[in-house]
Amino acid sequence: MTDAKKKLFIKTYGCQMNVYDSERMAETLGAQGYEQTEDQSEADMVLLNTCHIREKAAEKLYSDLGRLKPLKAEKPDLKIGVAGCVAQAEGEEIVRRMPIVDLVVGPQSYHRLPQMEAQVQTGVRALDTDFPQDDKFEVMKARPKAKRGPTAFLTVQEGCDKFCAFCVVPYTRGAEVSRPAERIVAEAQGLVEAGVREITLLGQNVNAYHGDAEGLAGLCAKLVKIDGLERIRYTTSHPNDMDDALIAAHGDEPKLMPYLHLPVQSGSDKILKAMNRKHTAEDYLRIIERIRAARPDILLSSDFIVGFPGETDDDFEQTMQLIDAVGYGAAYSFKYSARPGTPAAEKEDVAQDVMDERLQRLQALVTTQQHATQEAMVGREVSVLFEKPGREPGQWGGKSEYLHAVHVEAEGALRGQIRKVRITSAARNSLAGELVEK
Ligand code: 5AD
Ligand code: SF4
Repeated sequence: MTDAKKKLFIKTYGCQMNVYDSERMAETLGAQGYEQTEDQSEADMVLLNTCHIREKAAEKLYSDLGRLKPLKAEKPDLKIGVAGCVAQAEGEEIVRRMPIVDLVVGPQSYHRLPQMEAQVQTGVRALDTDFPQDDKFEVMKARPKAKRGPTAFLTVQEGCDKFCAFCVVPYTRGAEVSRPAERIVAEAQGLVEAGVREITLLGQNVNAYHGDAEGLAGLCAKLVKIDGLERIRYTTSHPNDMDDALIAAHGDEPKLMPYLHLPVQSGSDKILKAMNRKHTAEDYLRIIERIRAARPDILLSSDFIVGFPGETDDDFEQTMQLIDAVGYGAAYSFKYSARPGTPAAEKEDVAQDVMDERLQRLQALVTTQQHATQEAMVGREVSVLFEKPGREPGQWGGKSEYLHAVHVEAEGALRGQIRKVRITSAARNSLAGELVEK
């Protein structure tokens, strides 16, 4: 008789890289006899894969850990692990503050999970937040061949050498490291064989990718040759790394989807300089112009920080003007949050009520733009990769090339199909349409 499988519950916070890391950790622990569960109460191990980008994220970890106390009291054999960027930044503090935590693993060390798991089974707590020399992706076993959904993430580079003054990533994820192109192509091939048709290449600074002599454009040129891989996306990018080849690829390569997340953070040159972004608002607008010349229908999104130390009303108005000038399809905006150890954390904060007011105004503007972009889709034909049944019976949902959520009425199952859809109406967060050919 074989042992019943142990149950693993993973909660993922933060960015898509964490989503990818959670999958890889589940696969690694899968080889140790764990299977994933959606029900925390039946878990033998709970893994919290954390984010450190803003203050609230770390607070959330501690409150989630607090809520796990009764479960641990009930099930003393339950193992609790903390992974991700808070583990990296505050590993020792977590171990000190939270006796219920058995295991702390940083984002660069999770290939060591099997040994760490074995250690915690003997009752000894395990902490690993090194930046080891060995490349975790190459140490880990090949990914399992199980059938997968039509879309997948694939991390191609990690870390960042840019040192924006507000950002913890260079400290939590370390220096920029790119995976070799041939390994990525092999992993993509495996994903496609498992049913994937769209891959989103991930990196904290994905367009700084240098694992191919021709950069990210060179990697994309290799990936488009994989039969059955129909769509490629990448995120998240830095404006200064939008090189000529990558911009040209948006015009030349139909598999590269016309949606680009290109964070600018602020529209004020004074603030951009204080943020150490190394470009001006005008530089950014010129880059956008070139991208749109290559691919006129591209949909753009950005991140914005309001209330960076020293931001005046006039600086903020310049951000609003930049948003007006670009016209975004989507945008993510945040109040500045001082992160320990970053240069900006030393500076005096903008008052909370001022930040609140600016955030509201900025969000109202980008919401208007987002709705206008969605409305403009009505009557157009888009191509949709269908992923799952919609909310109503008989509906199927997926994403258009512009990353809009689209649903249609359909009789058969559409999962994994890419179909032409005419958009008939736009709601707040999704578009409705009809199949052009039934
Ligand atoms: N405060 C607020 N927002 C931040 N971001 C990164 N660091 C901070 C911070 N300290 C935002 C940036 C980045 C996104 C991932 O998170 O806009 O692009
Ligand atoms: Fe959070 Fe950034 Fe780490 Fe992703 S990389 S988990 S967003 S701190």
